[in-house]
Amino acid sequence: MGTSSSARRNRFPLILLATVATGLGVYLFTLFFAARLSEGPHTSFLKIPAVALWALLAYFTVRLVNAALFDFAFRIRRGYEAPTLVRNIFTLVIFTVLFVLIFKWFYSEINLGALFTTSAIFGVIIGLVSNSNAAKEAIEVAPRDNLNARLIFFSTVYTDSPAKTIHVVREAVRDADNVSEKITPIVRIRNLGESSIEWEIKYWLEDYAKYNDTDALVRQRTWYALRRNGLTFAFPTRTLHLERKVTARPTTAEDEIADRLSAVDVFAPLSTDELRQLAMATVGHVFAPGETLIRAGDEGSSMFVVHNGRVQVQLTESGKSRPVAVLSEGNFFGEMALFTGEPRTASVVALEETEVLEIGHAAMKHLFETNPSLVESISWTIAERRAGLAASAEQATPNSLAESAGLLTSIKRFFGLR
Ligand code: CMP
Repeated sequence: MGTSSSARRNRFPLILLATVATGLGVYLFTLFFAARLSEGPHTSFLKIPAVALWALLAYFTVRLVNAALFDFAFRIRRGYEAPTLVRNIFTLVIFTVLFVLIFKWFYSEINLGALFTTSAIFGVIIGLVSNSNAAKEAIEVAPRDNLNARLIFFSTVYTDSPAKTIHVVREAVRDADNVSEKITPIVRIRNLGESSIEWEIKYWLEDYAKYNDTDALVRQRTWYALRRNGLTFAFPTRTLHLERKVTARPTTAEDEIADRLSAVDVFAPLSTDELRQLAMATVGHVFAPGETLIRAGDEGSSMFVVHNGRVQVQLTESGKSRPVAVLSEGNFFGEMALFTGEPRTASVVALEETEVLEIGHAAMKHLFETNPSLVESISWTIAERRAGLAASAEQATPNSLAESAGLLTSIKRFFGLR
């Protein structure tokens, strides 16, 4: 009851000393007064201290056995502390039994039977003990053969990616000791707080009794996993973001973007300078797995280069989506609506966490003016993709060459080029 186990162990020698001292007292008392105690009813006044001494000895002995049993044996065998409720009931029941025996020994003529046969006294004792304990300790009902779920909370800063956090923490928690392998732990956002993303981990226990240690282990694993993966715990802070009044580029540095753009096949004819200018004009966006980047039928006036991750191009037919292509790092999409002015021909969905670089109409127009060959290579790509869409939709495949020639003219017209 609020006593730590180390404090209990420190008390053990004290209880042992008290038991030995009381034992000695009983021995000496019996030695001096044994003859008088057995003399008859007129010496009954001596029985009172005798009963008291024996009762004290019984009390200390029970406490000693309790400590030996629960502080040492139980902890070593089961690996956790015995519940206080069990300990107190043990002490009370054994002591009551011993006291009755002592009382009967000295006062054999008094009948205690009626009092105990009803077991009313035990009811009162156990009721009192359990009520006073219940007030101090939370009583939890944990079905034995069921897996019991636990919730652990933590917070990360807003700049950390949720998809990455989920993956990293789930993998770290799932192989922790006593976390059930039967159900994969869940890591989810419970709140977008004032200064942090607030998370909860839900996991299931193998052995309910070890929930405190397992909770602690899960927290520890989370700390290491976040640290290893460059994710940051949030604590109540305020971050002042000073924003330069230039084109916003929230995710990646210019050189890295220019590198990525140089690897895009249609941009091969561009000079280093042109690539750098194009890099400055791009805007980075990060999408979570499963998020839709482009929806078929929407208007659109920009194209995208996949910087990290993978996306799937999908057609929707009678309510079902049919994959057309998977595009990865260095591939581009969204060029069809940008160059022709027509609605988006397909939907594009992130297959994993994906970062894309958005290129707008103005940036492309500038490039087209200085690189006529760019219009040509892009119209080829568009013609090929149209053919792919038609094949996927089981329509007649158009003649790519003728299509490309027609496209070239319409792209030039759309961009106001000669
Ligand atoms: P847009 O029509 O603007 O939007 C959907 C995009 O999906 C489209 O541009 C292309 O970039 C891309 N897309 C369409 N069809 C294909 C295909 N067959 N292969 C690869 N990408 C495609």
